[in-house]
Amino acid sequence: MELRLRKNNIIDILKINEKISQVRDLYSLLDLVLLEARTITGADAGSIYLVRKNKLSFEYVQNDSLMGKGMKGQKYLYQKQEIEIDNTSVAGFVALNKKQLNIRDAYKIKGDVPYSFNRSFDEAASYRTSSILTSPMVTIENQLVGVMQMINAKNGRGKVVSFSRDDAIVLSLLANQAASAIEKAKMTREIILRMIRIAELKDPEETGTHVNRVGAYAIEIYRQWARKQDIKEEKIKRMQDVLRMTAMLHDAGKVAISDAILKKQGSLDSLEFEHMKMHTVFGARLFKDSNTDWDKMAAEIALNHHEKWDGSGYPGHIEDVNAHNIKIGEGKQGEEIPISARIVALADVYDALTSSRSYKDSWPEAKVLDYIEQEKGKHFDPVVVESFMEIYEVIQAIREKYKN
Ligand code: C2E
Ligand code: SIN
Ligand code: SIN
Ligand code: SIN
Ligand code: FE
Ligand code: FE
Repeated sequence: MELRLRKNNIIDILKINEKISQVRDLYSLLDLVLLEARTITGADAGSIYLVRKNKLSFEYVQNDSLMGKGMKGQKYLYQKQEIEIDNTSVAGFVALNKKQLNIRDAYKIKGDVPYSFNRSFDEAASYRTSSILTSPMVTIENQLVGVMQMINAKNGRGKVVSFSRDDAIVLSLLANQAASAIEKAKMTREIILRMIRIAELKDPEETGTHVNRVGAYAIEIYRQWARKQDIKEEKIKRMQDVLRMTAMLHDAGKVAISDAILKKQGSLDSLEFEHMKMHTVFGARLFKDSNTDWDKMAAEIALNHHEKWDGSGYPGHIEDVNAHNIKIGEGKQGEEIPISARIVALADVYDALTSSRSYKDSWPEAKVLDYIEQEKGKHFDPVVVESFMEIYEVIQAIREKYKN
């Protein structure tokens, strides 16, 4: 492909590269990359597929027409969809041949090509896909990471048009930059999931799906909570970047709890439960030595996720989490508890109640919702409960995506 880009485009791409390098969470990265690619190509929508187990797995979507109108569109993020890497679909063809495709109208693909456009998403969402620009995401080592797709280029008057040659060049550059960043973010995520699995070896009832759900619930509840406080989108995104993975680590301190307690089939006696409470302090210790935002939030969530809004939680004010004689004291109350932990408290309990544990069966959904309403203002921050209820449809989509 001939490189004849306008100078502005080159400067844009350099700036985007700088932003990309600052993001850590995989999904925040996909969000950023898609937004930048859509802005620069004028696309109404876009999606990203990543290679997982030799297939293309749907990972992320943005769609101004469907998602601009409030929170419900967020549920499209949690679709489950897999595409074969072969010549039968647009994304599959691009992945297999590592070759970009610029299609004028998805519904008018000629018969002389092997691929066709799958209309099932359009039909489910009442959307009409016309122009599509699809790029392979390939690392410098020529490894295929996934596929990025821009949908419906819009001109200045909002009319859907074809993607230009410039769009095509810019997208291929961006897609390849994104590929390397995505590889790095996936590695970070793998390391963290491995850490969690080590904790799980001790706690066989807990599965990776539990922490995936808690992380996703937490960022979606936070999004809605933050909107109610008029927090700026940029700050919301920065918080989400850190919150997902640190929320996943809320119980990492359980590694230090003895198997006899962790794996007990029945209820804990009061002495055992007192020891169990220490998992909050042990968790905070794991992240205490570093001062990055990430470690600070991980420590804050681990320490405070069993505090309760009315002050009846634990471990309360701890002066030094490294002290030898920790005394579990009076609980923190209300906004003394960091918002991250108030949110994870609800996400964790919702997930604990809707799942079965070694010591209890799962509860029916309606009973769980009644319980949460009943604990509003007692265990839980009332505004956090309201935020949760307002996005309940999204919560359901997450539960469906990360089923055990
Ligand atoms: P977990 O299983 O992840 O549960 C997290 C929180 O969900 C609990 O925090 C509690 O607030 C809520 N929760 C879970 N199950 C129930 C339930 O049946 N009824 C009600 N009302 N709430 C429930 P909590 O109580 O501070 O417990 C912290 C951790 O201690 C639990 O994490 C679990 O690992 C352990 N644990 C608590 N109770 C027992 C028990 O009776 N037996 C055993 N083996 N472990 C327990
Ligand atoms: C996802 O988990 O699929 C994306 C969630 C988000 O960052 O909003
Ligand atoms: C962990 O986060 O340490 C494992 C999952 C859990 O116990 O909740
Ligand atoms: C926020 O206002 O975005 C929450 C800040 C925090 O909990 O650190
Ligand atoms: Fe816990
Ligand atoms: Fe948990």
